[in-house]
Amino acid sequence: MIDVIQQYTAPYYAQIKFVHLVFMAMWFMSTSVAYRFYLVPIFREWMKSPGDIDRIRLRNWAMERFDDGARLEHVAFPMLLITGPLLMIAGGWSPVHGWFAMKLVIVVLIFIPIEVMDYYLAHFGGNKEKIRAAGQSGEAYEEAMHTHWWFLIVSSPIVVLTIPYVIYLVVVKPF
Ligand code: HEM
Repeated sequence: MIDVIQQYTAPYYAQIKFVHLVFMAMWFMSTSVAYRFYLVPIFREWMKSPGDIDRIRLRNWAMERFDDGARLEHVAFPMLLITGPLLMIAGGWSPVHGWFAMKLVIVVLIFIPIEVMDYYLAHFGGNKEKIRAAGQSGEAYEEAMHTHWWFLIVSSPIVVLTIPYVIYLVVVKPF
């Protein structure tokens, strides 16, 4: 089975890698400006005066937009998980290649768990617009807002370090 996939995909290695790279860029950067230059300053202002109705309104609007904007990242990620294994098979790569083994460890132990949580917070039970539209209590809305904010505070430094490291691993192949 793997041989058949390799036979059919190997001639398109460069094309698959092109697709992999485009979605890698979309996954890596699509929410960075929104997070760093919209969410962070807006939340910092809100935290200075948490009861201020205008700051609460702006915070809510920004986070609901952020939930929506995460769609780009969340289309790109599955595309990485499809094109990556295709590249692995087409190129004959395996975990005996140190760089690839380390890359897979980071994808499985860091990227996938973070993305699963991110999907939930942005599009499923944690989606703020859906909570508001469903007329759920302000408490439920606040809880979802705080959970998502803490998740971003904790996960952002992790991905800001590990994504460039994964790119370094696969471009430089240091081991
Ligand atoms: C999820 C996050 C991922 C990121 C950020 C990522 C990043 C990259 C980058 C930047 C390249 C291009 C390297 C170059 O041009 O030399 C690449 C290539 C590659 N990726 Fe990924 N990738 C990811 C997921 C995966 C997965 C899940 C797999 C396999 C299971 C995979 C397997 C590969 C392979 C085999 C190559 C080709 C290496 C080469 O031809 O030199 N990637 N990846």
